[in-house]
Amino acid sequence: MLRNRVKFYFAGWFLEFVDARLADRPYEWLLHQIAELTELQEVAVLEVGAGTGFASRAIERKLPEALIAAVDLSPELLGHGRRVASQVGSTIRFIRADGCSLPFADGSLELVVSAFFLHELSSAKRSTAVGEIRRILKPGGLLLVADLDEAVRLRRLFRFYLLLSHGAGAKAVLGHGLVDLLTSHGFEIESRGGGRGKLLPHQVVRARM
Ligand SMILES: C[S@@+](CC[C@H](N)C(=O)[O-])C[C@H]1O[C@@H](n2cnc3c(N)ncnc32)[C@H](O)[C@@H]1O
Repeated sequence: MLRNRVKFYFAGWFLEFVDARLADRPYEWLLHQIAELTELQEVAVLEVGAGTGFASRAIERKLPEALIAAVDLSPELLGHGRRVASQVGSTIRFIRADGCSLPFADGSLELVVSAFFLHELSSAKRSTAVGEIRRILKPGGLLLVADLDEAVRLRRLFRFYLLLSHGAGAKAVLGHGLVDLLTSHGFEIESRGGGRGKLLPHQVVRARM
């Protein structure tokens, strides 16, 4: 228990360090999508699996009028996020909740963002989490996802790492797995792109309800 708390305490620093240095800049893609969508200004936004809220803070800078909530399971990461947010004058609400049971009303949000969250779940939970996102989005609401993709080089090694770190279900998001999951929940895919960063091969998907 104590070991886990210490681990997650340091994970906060680690996440912030890595997020700021990711090759191919998946977080910049998220911001670019948001900047393109002029209808998004005074809207309600959720980042699910937000960790320390790195992406949420970037979204807040782009959408200063938006009401932004950052949900995560880890109290340590949320605590880290709250400390950073208060230093930069952010008004993001950090909420401890399970992405599989989101504390928001049906059809209450315009935008949900998920950055490197879905691969962390088992296949059954991932499907539940996407169902929850669908439930809380308004009709026509937008989902922006950045998550892992198939590695171009050292593919088998990458899959082995995924198996060890996140279990057998994680590979289901790779390649078209992510898009297939979203479409099976009724999302319409507006764009899919990818960054083939050497360290972290990833894909970015924009989907609408
Ligand atoms: C790889 S981190 C990404 C964090 C953040 N989105 C970012 O880009 O820095 C995955 C996050 O998902 C969170 N997480 C895992 N399972 C969860 C669940 N069932 N509900 C909510 N958050 C969860 C972890 O605590 C962790 O913060």
